[in-house]
Amino acid sequence: MLLTVDNMNVYYGAIHAIKGISFEVAEGEIVTLIGANGAGKSTTLKTVSGLLRSKTGSITFLDKDIGNVPPHKLVAQGLAHVPEGRRVFLQMTVEENLEMGAYTRKTGADSHMEKVYALFPRLKERRRQIAGTLSGGEQQMLAMGRALMSDPKLMMLDEPSMGLAPILVDQIFDIIKDLHKAGTTILLVEQNAQMALSVADRGYVLETGKIVKSAPAKDLLNDAAVKAAYLGG
Ligand SMILES: Nc1ncnc2c1ncn2[C@@H]1O[C@H](COP(=O)(O)OP(=O)(O)OP(=O)(O)O)[C@@H](O)[C@H]1O
Ligand SMILES: [Mg+2]
Repeated sequence: MLLTVDNMNVYYGAIHAIKGISFEVAEGEIVTLIGANGAGKSTTLKTVSGLLRSKTGSITFLDKDIGNVPPHKLVAQGLAHVPEGRRVFLQMTVEENLEMGAYTRKTGADSHMEKVYALFPRLKERRRQIAGTLSGGEQQMLAMGRALMSDPKLMMLDEPSMGLAPILVDQIFDIIKDLHKAGTTILLVEQNAQMALSVADRGYVLETGKIVKSAPAKDLLNDAAVKAAYLGG
Protein backbone atom coordinates (compact mmCIF):
# COMPACT_ATOMS: atom_id res chain seq x y z
CA MET A 1 0.00 0.00 0.00
CA LEU A 2 1.12 3.52 -0.74
CA LEU A 3 -0.96 4.97 2.11
CA THR A 4 -2.48 3.14 5.06
CA VAL A 5 -4.53 4.96 7.66
CA ASP A 6 -5.29 2.85 10.70
CA ASN A 7 -7.69 3.93 13.45
CA MET A 8 -7.56 7.71 12.98
CA ASN A 9 -9.20 9.79 15.71
CA VAL A 10 -9.11 13.57 15.42
CA TYR A 11 -10.48 16.14 17.84
CA TYR A 12 -11.03 19.89 17.67
CA GLY A 13 -11.06 20.57 21.41
CA ALA A 14 -14.10 18.68 22.67
CA ILE A 15 -15.42 17.97 19.15
CA HIS A 16 -14.64 14.43 18.02
CA ALA A 17 -14.44 15.01 14.26
CA ILE A 18 -12.90 11.72 13.06
CA LYS A 19 -14.00 8.60 14.89
CA GLY A 20 -11.63 5.70 14.37
CA ILE A 21 -11.47 5.52 10.58
CA SER A 22 -9.19 3.19 8.62
CA PHE A 23 -8.60 3.21 4.87
CA GLU A 24 -5.91 2.61 2.31
CA VAL A 25 -4.72 3.74 -1.08
CA ALA A 26 -2.70 1.46 -3.36
CA GLU A 27 -0.16 2.75 -5.84
CA GLY A 28 -1.84 3.76 -9.11
CA GLU A 29 -5.36 4.02 -7.69
CA ILE A 30 -7.84 6.85 -7.60
CA VAL A 31 -9.63 6.55 -4.29
CA THR A 32 -12.44 8.88 -3.34
CA LEU A 33 -13.81 9.88 0.02
CA ILE A 34 -17.37 11.12 -0.30
CA GLY A 35 -19.63 12.60 2.35
CA ALA A 36 -21.88 15.50 3.25
CA ASN A 37 -20.81 18.88 4.66
CA GLY A 38 -19.08 18.40 7.98
CA ALA A 39 -18.58 14.64 7.56
CA GLY A 40 -14.84 15.05 8.17
CA LYS A 41 -13.38 14.82 4.66
CA SER A 42 -11.09 17.85 4.91
CA THR A 43 -10.09 16.91 8.44
CA THR A 44 -8.98 13.51 7.18
CA LEU A 45 -6.79 15.00 4.44
CA LYS A 46 -5.32 17.59 6.81
CA THR A 47 -4.40 14.84 9.24
CA VAL A 48 -2.71 12.74 6.54
CA SER A 49 -0.71 15.76 5.41
CA GLY A 50 0.43 16.55 8.95
CA LEU A 51 -1.55 19.74 9.55
CA LEU A 52 -3.58 17.98 12.26
CA ARG A 53 -2.67 14.99 14.45
CA SER A 54 -4.52 11.76 15.11
CA LYS A 55 -4.82 10.83 18.79
CA THR A 56 -4.56 7.12 18.02
CA GLY A 57 -3.46 4.60 15.43
CA SER A 58 -0.98 5.15 12.62
CA ILE A 59 -0.55 6.67 9.19
CA THR A 60 1.88 4.83 6.94
CA PHE A 61 3.12 6.33 3.66
CA LEU A 62 5.70 4.50 1.54
CA ASP A 63 6.26 2.05 4.41
CA LYS A 64 7.12 4.81 6.90
CA ASP A 65 5.05 5.92 9.87
CA ILE A 66 4.35 9.59 9.12
CA GLY A 67 2.10 10.27 12.10
CA ASN A 68 4.55 12.82 13.54
CA VAL A 69 6.26 14.14 10.42
CA PRO A 70 5.76 17.87 9.75
CA PRO A 71 3.91 18.86 6.56
CA HIS A 72 6.88 20.35 4.67
CA LYS A 73 8.86 17.13 5.09
CA LEU A 74 5.94 15.13 3.75
CA VAL A 75 5.92 17.22 0.58
CA ALA A 76 9.57 16.30 0.07
CA GLN A 77 8.65 12.63 0.59
CA GLY A 78 6.07 12.77 -2.19
CA LEU A 79 2.81 13.72 -0.54
CA ALA A 80 0.98 16.71 -2.04
CA HIS A 81 -2.20 18.25 -0.66
CA VAL A 82 -4.32 20.66 -2.69
CA PRO A 83 -6.51 22.18 0.01
CA GLU A 84 -10.13 23.24 -0.21
CA GLY A 85 -10.60 26.73 -1.60
CA ARG A 86 -7.42 26.70 -3.77
CA ARG A 87 -5.01 28.64 -1.61
CA VAL A 88 -2.67 30.07 -4.19
CA PHE A 89 -0.37 33.00 -3.46
CA LEU A 90 -2.65 35.76 -4.70
CA GLN A 91 -0.03 38.49 -5.08
CA MET A 92 2.38 36.32 -7.03
CA THR A 93 2.30 35.49 -10.72
CA VAL A 94 1.29 32.10 -12.05
CA GLU A 95 4.93 31.23 -12.70
CA GLU A 96 6.05 32.33 -9.23
CA ASN A 97 3.33 30.16 -7.70
CA LEU A 98 4.61 27.18 -9.67
CA GLU A 99 8.19 27.92 -8.58
CA MET A 100 7.03 27.88 -4.94
CA GLY A 101 5.65 24.40 -5.53
CA ALA A 102 9.10 23.24 -6.58
CA TYR A 103 10.88 24.32 -3.40
CA THR A 104 11.60 20.73 -2.39
CA ARG A 105 13.25 19.93 -5.72
CA LYS A 106 16.99 20.16 -6.14
CA THR A 107 16.89 19.83 -9.92
CA GLY A 108 14.50 19.62 -12.79
CA ALA A 109 12.12 22.45 -11.87
CA ASP A 110 12.22 23.94 -15.37
CA SER A 111 11.43 20.74 -17.24
CA HIS A 112 8.75 20.03 -14.70
CA MET A 113 7.17 23.39 -15.27
CA GLU A 114 6.92 22.52 -18.96
CA LYS A 115 5.07 19.31 -18.03
CA VAL A 116 2.66 21.29 -15.88
CA TYR A 117 2.13 23.77 -18.71
CA ALA A 118 1.46 20.89 -21.10
CA LEU A 119 -1.26 19.68 -18.75
CA PHE A 120 -2.65 23.20 -18.21
CA PRO A 121 -2.09 25.26 -21.38
CA ARG A 122 -4.24 27.99 -19.85
CA LEU A 123 -1.62 28.52 -17.15
CA LYS A 124 1.12 28.86 -19.73
CA GLU A 125 -0.81 31.59 -21.55
CA ARG A 126 -1.20 33.39 -18.24
CA ARG A 127 2.17 32.74 -16.68
CA ARG A 128 2.92 36.42 -16.01
CA GLN A 129 -0.56 37.15 -14.64
CA ILE A 130 -1.06 37.84 -10.92
CA ALA A 131 -2.78 34.79 -9.43
CA GLY A 132 -5.38 36.88 -7.60
CA THR A 133 -6.79 38.01 -10.94
CA LEU A 134 -7.28 34.47 -12.30
CA SER A 135 -10.79 33.03 -12.51
CA GLY A 136 -11.84 30.45 -9.95
CA GLY A 137 -11.24 27.58 -12.35
CA GLU A 138 -7.83 28.91 -13.33
CA GLN A 139 -6.90 29.23 -9.66
CA GLN A 140 -7.90 25.59 -9.17
CA MET A 141 -5.66 24.62 -12.09
CA LEU A 142 -2.84 26.66 -10.56
CA ALA A 143 -3.29 25.01 -7.16
CA MET A 144 -3.11 21.59 -8.81
CA GLY A 145 -0.18 22.62 -11.01
CA ARG A 146 1.72 23.94 -8.02
CA ALA A 147 1.22 20.64 -6.18
CA LEU A 148 2.47 18.76 -9.23
CA MET A 149 5.71 20.73 -9.23
CA SER A 150 6.88 18.62 -6.27
CA ASP A 151 6.40 15.49 -8.43
CA PRO A 152 4.15 13.81 -5.86
CA LYS A 153 3.60 10.08 -5.50
CA LEU A 154 0.26 10.77 -3.86
CA MET A 155 -1.85 13.78 -4.69
CA MET A 156 -4.69 14.60 -2.29
CA LEU A 157 -7.35 16.85 -3.80
CA ASP A 158 -9.93 18.52 -1.56
CA GLU A 159 -13.07 19.41 -3.55
CA PRO A 160 -11.40 20.42 -6.81
CA SER A 161 -14.81 21.01 -8.44
CA MET A 162 -16.15 23.33 -5.77
CA GLY A 163 -17.77 26.46 -7.17
CA LEU A 164 -16.88 25.71 -10.80
CA ALA A 165 -19.21 25.85 -13.78
CA PRO A 166 -20.05 22.42 -15.26
CA ILE A 167 -17.70 22.81 -18.22
CA LEU A 168 -14.77 23.58 -15.92
CA VAL A 169 -15.73 20.69 -13.64
CA ASP A 170 -15.44 18.43 -16.69
CA GLN A 171 -12.03 19.90 -17.52
CA ILE A 172 -10.73 19.41 -13.98
CA PHE A 173 -11.91 15.80 -13.96
CA ASP A 174 -10.33 15.20 -17.39
CA ILE A 175 -7.05 16.43 -15.92
CA ILE A 176 -7.48 14.12 -12.92
CA LYS A 177 -7.87 11.22 -15.39
CA ASP A 178 -4.77 12.36 -17.30
CA LEU A 179 -2.73 12.53 -14.10
CA HIS A 180 -3.89 9.07 -13.18
CA LYS A 181 -2.92 7.72 -16.62
CA ALA A 182 0.50 9.32 -16.17
CA GLY A 183 0.93 7.30 -12.96
CA THR A 184 -0.01 9.64 -10.14
CA THR A 185 -1.97 8.07 -7.31
CA ILE A 186 -4.89 10.23 -6.21
CA LEU A 187 -6.97 10.57 -3.06
CA LEU A 188 -9.96 12.65 -4.04
CA VAL A 189 -12.40 14.31 -1.65
CA GLU A 190 -15.61 15.48 -3.26
CA GLN A 191 -19.17 16.51 -2.58
CA ASN A 192 -19.76 15.93 -6.28
CA ALA A 193 -20.07 12.20 -5.64
CA GLN A 194 -21.28 11.43 -9.14
CA MET A 195 -18.14 12.81 -10.79
CA ALA A 196 -15.81 11.47 -8.12
CA LEU A 197 -17.19 7.93 -8.34
CA SER A 198 -17.12 8.02 -12.12
CA VAL A 199 -13.31 8.53 -12.17
CA ALA A 200 -12.38 6.56 -9.04
CA ASP A 201 -11.41 2.91 -8.65
CA ARG A 202 -12.74 2.68 -5.10
CA GLY A 203 -14.68 4.85 -2.72
CA TYR A 204 -15.34 5.31 0.98
CA VAL A 205 -18.47 6.94 2.36
CA LEU A 206 -17.86 9.12 5.39
CA GLU A 207 -20.73 10.06 7.73
CA THR A 208 -20.15 12.22 10.82
CA GLY A 209 -16.58 11.07 11.22
CA LYS A 210 -17.09 7.38 10.48
CA ILE A 211 -16.63 5.28 7.36
CA VAL A 212 -19.99 3.64 6.81
CA LYS A 213 -19.31 2.01 3.46
CA SER A 214 -16.36 1.05 1.28
CA ALA A 215 -16.62 -0.54 -2.17
CA PRO A 216 -15.48 -0.37 -5.78
CA ALA A 217 -16.63 2.98 -7.18
CA LYS A 218 -18.95 1.40 -9.74
CA ASP A 219 -20.74 -0.51 -6.98
CA LEU A 220 -21.24 2.69 -4.99
CA LEU A 221 -22.69 4.35 -8.09
CA ASN A 222 -25.35 1.61 -8.13
CA ASP A 223 -25.89 1.42 -4.37
CA ALA A 224 -29.46 2.42 -3.45
CA ALA A 225 -28.53 4.16 -0.18
CA VAL A 226 -25.62 6.02 -1.80
CA LYS A 227 -27.83 7.04 -4.69
CA ALA A 228 -30.50 8.40 -2.35
CA ALA A 229 -28.07 10.29 -0.12
CA TYR A 230 -25.36 11.50 -2.50
CA LEU A 231 -26.40 11.08 -6.11
CA GLY A 232 -29.69 12.93 -6.15
CA GLY A 233 -31.86 9.82 -5.94
N1 LIG B 1 -10.99 24.32 13.24
C1 LIG B 1 -12.08 23.69 13.67
N2 LIG B 1 -12.54 23.87 14.93
C2 LIG B 1 -13.65 23.21 15.37
N3 LIG B 1 -14.35 22.34 14.65
C3 LIG B 1 -13.94 22.13 13.39
C4 LIG B 1 -12.80 22.79 12.83
N4 LIG B 1 -12.65 22.37 11.56
C5 LIG B 1 -13.64 21.50 11.32
N5 LIG B 1 -14.43 21.36 12.42
C6 LIG B 1 -15.59 20.48 12.55
O1 LIG B 1 -15.22 19.16 12.24
C7 LIG B 1 -16.22 18.50 11.46
C8 LIG B 1 -15.62 18.01 10.14
O2 LIG B 1 -15.22 19.14 9.35
P1 LIG B 1 -14.54 18.98 7.93
O3 LIG B 1 -14.11 20.33 7.51
O4 LIG B 1 -13.53 17.93 8.00
O5 LIG B 1 -15.77 18.48 7.07
P2 LIG B 1 -15.90 18.23 5.49
O6 LIG B 1 -16.39 16.83 5.32
O7 LIG B 1 -14.65 18.61 4.82
O8 LIG B 1 -17.08 19.24 5.10
P3 LIG B 1 -17.30 20.15 3.78
O9 LIG B 1 -17.87 19.24 2.75
O10 LIG B 1 -18.29 21.17 4.23
O11 LIG B 1 -15.98 20.74 3.38
C9 LIG B 1 -17.34 19.53 11.28
O12 LIG B 1 -18.33 19.27 12.23
C10 LIG B 1 -16.64 20.86 11.55
O13 LIG B 1 -17.54 21.81 12.09
MG1 LIG C 1 -14.16 20.04 3.45
